[in-house]
Amino acid sequence: MVSAYAPGKAILFGEHAVVYGHPAIAVAISKGVTVTLSKSDSWSVENRPLSPSRHPHINWLIEKNCVTDKPMSIKISSGLFPAAGQGSSAALSVAMQLALSRSEGLPSNPIEAALFAHQAEAHAQSGLASPTDTATSSMGGCVVVSNDLKGTAERTFQATLEVPGGTRRWDVGPVSLQTEEEPPVLVLGYSGTPSQTGKMVSMVAALISGDEDRKRDLDSIGELTLMGLVALRSGAWEAVGMTMDACHDKLRSLALSTPMLENLISAVRPHSLGAKLTGSGGGGCMMALTYDADRVAQSIEMAGGKAMITPFFSDGARIIEP
Ligand code: PMV
Repeated sequence: MVSAYAPGKAILFGEHAVVYGHPAIAVAISKGVTVTLSKSDSWSVENRPLSPSRHPHINWLIEKNCVTDKPMSIKISSGLFPAAGQGSSAALSVAMQLALSRSEGLPSNPIEAALFAHQAEAHAQSGLASPTDTATSSMGGCVVVSNDLKGTAERTFQATLEVPGGTRRWDVGPVSLQTEEEPPVLVLGYSGTPSQTGKMVSMVAALISGDEDRKRDLDSIGELTLMGLVALRSGAWEAVGMTMDACHDKLRSLALSTPMLENLISAVRPHSLGAKLTGSGGGGCMMALTYDADRVAQSIEMAGGKAMITPFFSDGARIIEP
């Protein structure tokens, strides 16, 4: 039996813009997905036969690891809200890849897991996915993803994706803080409505193709992300919060917010350094940066959402040793 755990993630800056090569910054969160593999007579997921349409990520990884002839029973447990912009499919893919490698007797390699999981995500998302979720889940901590890090962070690896127009490339590196000060905490608030990444990515593609102002919103998100990176590295938390607020304004003008996300964000703003929707939007989660996590969590619950408190830095993916 082999088990692996991979955390979910929350995007601080840059969702959607990162699909077009702009930078994004995300953090691993303290909850995630555990995958357990045990030898069996046939491939199954939670005691039901493995189905390529229901489990596209898992099926793709089994094929690419060339283990279709070594059937296993797959058990999955998740502490994440489902389809909520917390990167549950990325965490599932990363944990699955780590567990598959270990079951083949190979050393666990978080970069390889990130690369395989990114391709699995792209396969499941009609060919278009940035490596943000998968890289953050694998590496843990705070991660920047960009088509050109321009010396803003050290590059840990490069992810590529073949798309109809050619090859897309993203550099991935850790964001390390140049301060000893304890960072504030993040509180996520689930709006109760699932968010559909593929649908929202396509919606933004359609929106920017006919509207220069909306395209400029995406470019602004890219600029704000670079400002956020400078603020983060120097531990200028008020500036980080203000940049989160500004990013949310742009995401809202791209029609990615919902009335419930707006309610939750308004409820937490008095107790937060900043708040924004996180992930693909159209539902899913918002997040707040705060020194008063309990109060923010209470405000989210009182406004009808579900709160999850997570430290600013959480560990990345790992094999769970028996
Ligand atoms: O799947 P979500 O909700 O975590 O959003 C992913 C972030 C996007 O930028 C919208 C898509 C991507 O592939 O980066």
